[in-house]
Amino acid sequence: MDCSGFQLFWWSIKLVGLLVALLVARGVLWLVNLLWVAPRFDPLRNLPGPDASAFHSHFCSVNDPDITPELYHEWTSKLFGKTFRYHGYGRHDYRLMSFDLRVVSHVLTSPVYQKPWQTRAYLGRLLGRGVFNMEGAEHKALRKLIGPAFTAQAVKGMSSIFLQKAEELRDRWDALVSANGSSTATFDVAHWISRTTFDIFGLSGFDYHFNALHDESEEVYSAYRRMFNISDKATHLRVLKQLYLPIVERIWPDRDDKITQQCLKTIRDCGTGLIQAKRETYMNEKSDDKDILSLLIKSNLSTEPSNRLSDTELLDQLSSFLFAGSDTTALAITWCLHILSHHPEIQSRLRAELLSSPTPDTVTSSKRNSICSVSSTSSVMQADTIDALPYLDAVVRETLRVSPPVHGTVRVATVDDLIPVSSPVVLRNGKIIHENEYIRIKKGSFVHIPVEGLNMSEEIWGPDARQFNPDRWTSLPAGATPPSFPGLANLMSFSFGRASCPGYRFALLEAKVVIATLVTQFVFSPVEGIEIGKYNSVVTRPFVRDRLDSEGFQLPLRISKHTD
Ligand code: HEM
Ligand SMILES: *[C@@H]1O[C@H](CO)[C@@H](O)[C@H](O)[C@H]1NC(C)=O
Ligand SMILES: *[C@@H]1O[C@H](CO)[C@@H](O)[C@H](O)[C@H]1NC(C)=O
Ligand SMILES: *[C@@H]1O[C@H](CO)[C@@H](O)[C@H](O)[C@H]1NC(C)=O
Ligand SMILES: *[C@@H]1O[C@H](CO)[C@@H](O)[C@H](O)[C@H]1NC(C)=O
Repeated sequence: MDCSGFQLFWWSIKLVGLLVALLVARGVLWLVNLLWVAPRFDPLRNLPGPDASAFHSHFCSVNDPDITPELYHEWTSKLFGKTFRYHGYGRHDYRLMSFDLRVVSHVLTSPVYQKPWQTRAYLGRLLGRGVFNMEGAEHKALRKLIGPAFTAQAVKGMSSIFLQKAEELRDRWDALVSANGSSTATFDVAHWISRTTFDIFGLSGFDYHFNALHDESEEVYSAYRRMFNISDKATHLRVLKQLYLPIVERIWPDRDDKITQQCLKTIRDCGTGLIQAKRETYMNEKSDDKDILSLLIKSNLSTEPSNRLSDTELLDQLSSFLFAGSDTTALAITWCLHILSHHPEIQSRLRAELLSSPTPDTVTSSKRNSICSVSSTSSVMQADTIDALPYLDAVVRETLRVSPPVHGTVRVATVDDLIPVSSPVVLRNGKIIHENEYIRIKKGSFVHIPVEGLNMSEEIWGPDARQFNPDRWTSLPAGATPPSFPGLANLMSFSFGRASCPGYRFALLEAKVVIATLVTQFVFSPVEGIEIGKYNSVVTRPFVRDRLDSEGFQLPLRISKHTD
């Protein structure tokens, strides 16, 4: 190496050194700002709330449905009032939580608050460009496009599928119970019901047979299952890696990444074929198929050209619905059976209502296995009758109130904002924010919407708020449903506002039909010697206490045939 070459080499080393030093300095500044400077200027700092040491997080407690009913009660009625903050990833990370309906309503309806990009990016990997990872005008246009698939009319059109699958489940259980010779059997109902709601979505979503109630080997079904399974049990570290270092996954995919990619490919290959076939049928015969896919194809054609969807985008919507609607509805049904098993008198009263209505056992004559040939007029009538039963309606709503499948949700402020409060907040410095005044929140702050907590508020429901009492729905206490409360069907459980659940009518009718079919036929009682716990990942699932690690999620019940 000659002299000038050597100097050049030396200079480059220095330059690289300088760059590294600058980067490190920037990193240190960023960290100092994040941990010490920014929190000092965060207006949420002044709110009341639980304290924590530097690296303590409240995530575990605020997300654990095993303790939240007690915890929320203590925080709101004894310690902090309705609006307070807790600590996210450490002391520096203030998060707003509120039980004040004015605050909740502001956050869920104002365009200032969006789903966090982290959630959107994470779900986007699985679900593509679905409703979950869109925001703003794009989200609004998409909600409009999918609307026609979720009207009361559309859902009614799918009710023959709900009935057909509910009866298939009933027959499977009937066989299990009879096989035991004793007319009683004990098994995990959670997984069976999940198979049922997948099957229902396969047919009502894509007009496709997963046949999961029969066996669980169907290719597309397994692909969805495996994929959701992986995302469900993802560890914190894994999620962080995927969000902040997506390149790692591209260069060194691990086993789970590879499986996810394979599953996505299976789904795309089959899904695009289905869409093309459906579109052709629709174009040629103007068929009036009532599945969600057909309705979306129709809606796409009548939408403003700039908002139309490609085949892949349309498939992404269906995957999103399956993700959002299948396990949630299954859990609503599962928790309902669990609660009924512990309230035999409510279960009997419900059964009496079902048996005295003209519905049960009249459709068994209709043909199975082909949705097109199920005599849909009779089952629409049946679903109508089931839908109108007042006690069943009350039991389902009460289940969703005390055991919401979605425990809570999160939004992020995209600009500095002022949030109106309807009940006073006493700040740490003694200052009081009165009714109709505002609390300040800065851009980037997270807001936690405690769905479950809101639904068990004693202030709204009275002193028995935490008890399961379907009768409250037939004589709601004065003020239980404030006229200004914009919840869906009086259920906070489906959230409300811009990104509320579009599938709530679908879920309610599906749950009612399945529960009606099962409770008519079987008696449910708890299994002695075990206790059921609640575990919250994205949705709240049941497990047997002390057996979560070894046996996973489950809800074993004792099931016997009803004889009168
Ligand atoms: C009992 C069953 C169900 C419950 C408890 C439930 C609950 C919810 C909740 C709380 C949200 C709002 C999430 C948030 O604000 O972050 C939501 C959103 C959503 N739900 Fe449901 N859901 C259920 C069933 C369904 C069904 C059956 C479908 C579709 C067939 C569905 C489709 C969706 C979709 C697409 C969204 C996203 C909406 C958006 O981001 O604009 N859900 N659901
Ligand atoms: C069958 O019945 C017996 C006696 O009632 C019971 O001990 C056993 O657990 C039952 N088996 C199943 C699969 O439920
Ligand atoms: C999902 O995960 C559970 C436990 O982690 C496992 O037992 C089950 O077989 C998995 N299902 C699929 C379809 O991968
Ligand atoms: C939606 O409509 C556009 C324009 O007519 C069409 O090109 C596109 O294929 C349609 N998408 C689906 C999924 O049918
Ligand atoms: C949920 O809570 C909201 C407000 O707290 C209330 O208006 C609504 O009726 C509740 N719904 C259920 C099912 O508890």
